Amino acid sequence: MVISPAYRVHQQPINQLSTKNLIMKHYKIALLPGDAIGPELMKEAVKVLKAVEARNDDIEFELIEAPFGASAYFDVGHPFPEETKKLCLEADAVLKGPVGLSYEETQKIPVDMQAERGAILPLRRHLNTYANLRPVYLPKGLSHFSPLKEEIVGEGIDILIIRELVGGLYFGEKEVGVNDAGHRYVKEILEYDEQQISQILHVAFQQAMKRKKVLHNIHKSNVLKSSVLWNQIVEEISPEYPEVKVIHQLVDSAATLLCLDPGQFDVMVMENMFGDILSDQGGGILGSLGLMPSACLGDDKAYYEPSHGSAPDIAGKNIANPYSMIGSVAMMLELSFNMIDESKNVWKAIQSVFTQGYSTPDLSKPGSGVKMINTDAFGDKVVEELNKL
Ligand code: NAD
Ligand code: IPM
Ligand code: MN
Repeated sequence: MVISPAYRVHQQPINQLSTKNLIMKHYKIALLPGDAIGPELMKEAVKVLKAVEARNDDIEFELIEAPFGASAYFDVGHPFPEETKKLCLEADAVLKGPVGLSYEETQKIPVDMQAERGAILPLRRHLNTYANLRPVYLPKGLSHFSPLKEEIVGEGIDILIIRELVGGLYFGEKEVGVNDAGHRYVKEILEYDEQQISQILHVAFQQAMKRKKVLHNIHKSNVLKSSVLWNQIVEEISPEYPEVKVIHQLVDSAATLLCLDPGQFDVMVMENMFGDILSDQGGGILGSLGLMPSACLGDDKAYYEPSHGSAPDIAGKNIANPYSMIGSVAMMLELSFNMIDESKNVWKAIQSVFTQGYSTPDLSKPGSGVKMINTDAFGDKVVEELNKL
């Protein structure tokens, strides 16, 4: 049985269809392939988008590629060029590959022009995509991919990590200098206001209502005042969702519990930095970051990207797992275009490639009895499976 993760945020698609032709739906999608494995993954995502378009007579995708990330810095002098910004604002959705280079290569770029500070964070701010949905999902049949013991994985893993994406330490003021003692110092401010906190919490409560009605609030209120305010707002909002049981969990012990007993979690909500770290741990308990798609949602705009980075260690080898990228396409079909059934079909197609015994190299060791498959063959198989549905 194949189930797609339930992560719907809005009752209505983000881009309302009312202004569009009701018969032929035309969606403009900005494609930002990014760096290292980014273009390899984007190629597979485009295959799937083209297959979806071919299967649906009333859908037309206009795919426009634009420079973004370190490659954009080297090619056109800026990691997030003005034309790319304009395109992202005009587009109905943005599909983004991972960006960034190895530590050593990154040093060749001025600090503020590096792909993370110079492109990703401005993209998030520009589109105000405050809600980052990162499903950590492994159906029971694929639990052999997880490094956790079978009795711990149990019925599989199905967690939705909701990460605040445009606040906190990432976006606070920064100061670098030399203090009175002559020591170099740095100051970075972790800032949230109540409106920022409540908007992400509402997303989390609404998701919890659509799932098991249990919400883990991840915090560090034993130390951080930002968590004290965060938790107060949880308490204030909670009565609006009386059916949702809230469980407060400190972030450090949450990290351990994710390994020891992931089955206790359903929806988890947290601030930006905690979400960055715990969601990569989510990839760890599944077996690979290659299984981590994501949606970055705002009130008006959305973009979709794998949770992982550009994996410079495996770039150019055609071995990256494109699940995270194709899964991000499935999330886009559902959340931006309201193509619920077709989104489910893409999930089914991805899962059936695995259930037929195929595996990408990140998930299995050679000789472990799987049929090893590379990046582009995985994309082809997904399309083949999709066309059977
Ligand atoms: P990473 O996520 O790129 O890689 C960590 C490990 O996971 C590597 O061993 C890598 O090979 C593996 N991996 C990741 N994705 C995979 C996939 N699809 N298939 C198979 N294996 C995969 O993290 P890192 O090495 O710490 O960072 C590399 C660069 O990526 C850095 O420049 C970082 O800033 C950037 N980054 C970008 C994004 C983004 O664009 N959203 C996210 C995270 C990191
Ligand atoms: C992620 C990445 C980014 C983050 C970096 C590359 C800016 O790690 O999307 O998880 O920290 O948010
Ligand atoms: Mn990260």
